[in-house]
Amino acid sequence: MHKIYLDHNATTPVLPEVLDVMLPFYKNQFGNPSSVHSEGRVARVSLDVAREQVAELIGAKPVEIVFTSGGSESNNFAILGVALSLNNKKRHIVTSAVEHSAIINPLKQLETLGFCIDYIPVDSYGRVDPQKVKSIITNSTALVTIQHANSEVGTLQNISEIGKLVQSKGVLFHTDAVQTIGKIPVNVNNLEADLLSISSHKIYGPKGVGALFIKKGTPSLFCLVSGGGQEKKRRGGTENVPGIVGFGKACQIAQYRLIKGHTEQLKKMRDQLRKQINKLIPNVNFFGCPDKCLPNTLNCGFEGADGEALLIALDMEGIFVSTGSACSSGTGLPSQVLSAMRLPKSMISSSLRFSLGFSNTFEDVNFTAATLANAVMLSRKNMS
Ligand SMILES: Cc1ncc(COP(=O)(O)O)c(C=O)c1O
Repeated sequence: MHKIYLDHNATTPVLPEVLDVMLPFYKNQFGNPSSVHSEGRVARVSLDVAREQVAELIGAKPVEIVFTSGGSESNNFAILGVALSLNNKKRHIVTSAVEHSAIINPLKQLETLGFCIDYIPVDSYGRVDPQKVKSIITNSTALVTIQHANSEVGTLQNISEIGKLVQSKGVLFHTDAVQTIGKIPVNVNNLEADLLSISSHKIYGPKGVGALFIKKGTPSLFCLVSGGGQEKKRRGGTENVPGIVGFGKACQIAQYRLIKGHTEQLKKMRDQLRKQINKLIPNVNFFGCPDKCLPNTLNCGFEGADGEALLIALDMEGIFVSTGSACSSGTGLPSQVLSAMRLPKSMISSSLRFSLGFSNTFEDVNFTAATLANAVMLSRKNMS
């Protein structure tokens, strides 16, 4: 059966070129980057190269990149690292109602420690009003953290305006850019971010690797992983050299694809999917912001059908999509993101997310829409 993978916001396949540069570090070049001998030095130099590649993709300086175990750790490091560095002087944090669980859960931990968290509501497109963020900041605000793009609906926030407003109040600003890097240009200088989280496995790199950008001049964050002083004492533990090298290569390829306009192709295929769904299936609602959106993401609800049943029906035909985010699906709870956008429960439970990637084709998209049309018809019949 021909497989059609349309879940690239959950994860992406490792590119062959990425795997190729990783493999030697599992075989002959296995040195520890902290070792002084030449085997260690080979690993150290490779880390330096990867750091430059990652920094280059987001317009940062290599020294501003701290390697982590992925987007979740980067978010935890940013939030807990700022909060715990302040000796209880500032105990207020601002975020949005549509953040990933790797933002929400560390914030909930801080609430149990007496921190006060404000969750800014979003409009029906999932957008945060920058002025609302500004108006809620007080003298006690330690950090504002607002995502760059939403993984479920693809809505993009006006991060540069939010960043400017937050910084004008003298408050640190973090953005979770895990879903945007590699899909749209991300430049830390335009985004006015002090801290920015990225992850390797969303951009055709290996899993279990990511980075936190920490702008030069940012006060030292509380170190969550203390150890042997790696990453300039910001994150202890022997570095995941093969993973980091692969991440660097994935960033280099992502930059090439952005420059060459490959993401335009994703957008064209996504728009074709929307067109075909509209043509073949009645009573469909599209969620998220129509223009300020990731180029590869489409989230829609099929009135009177069941999203889980549709997912399974597509799976049986070799088509892989998701309901909600990969991390929260399977909990049986309605998507927090769609709930925050104030969509009725019946609409939420009928929704599917399609997230396209570079290996998809127009044929994939047309076949998916046709298969989906049958699945929706069946599900609606079963539900009535
Ligand atoms: C917006 C966002 N932030 C953070 C993460 C977590 O990243 P990782 O899987 O690398 O821990 C994800 C993963 O789905 C995400 O979509």
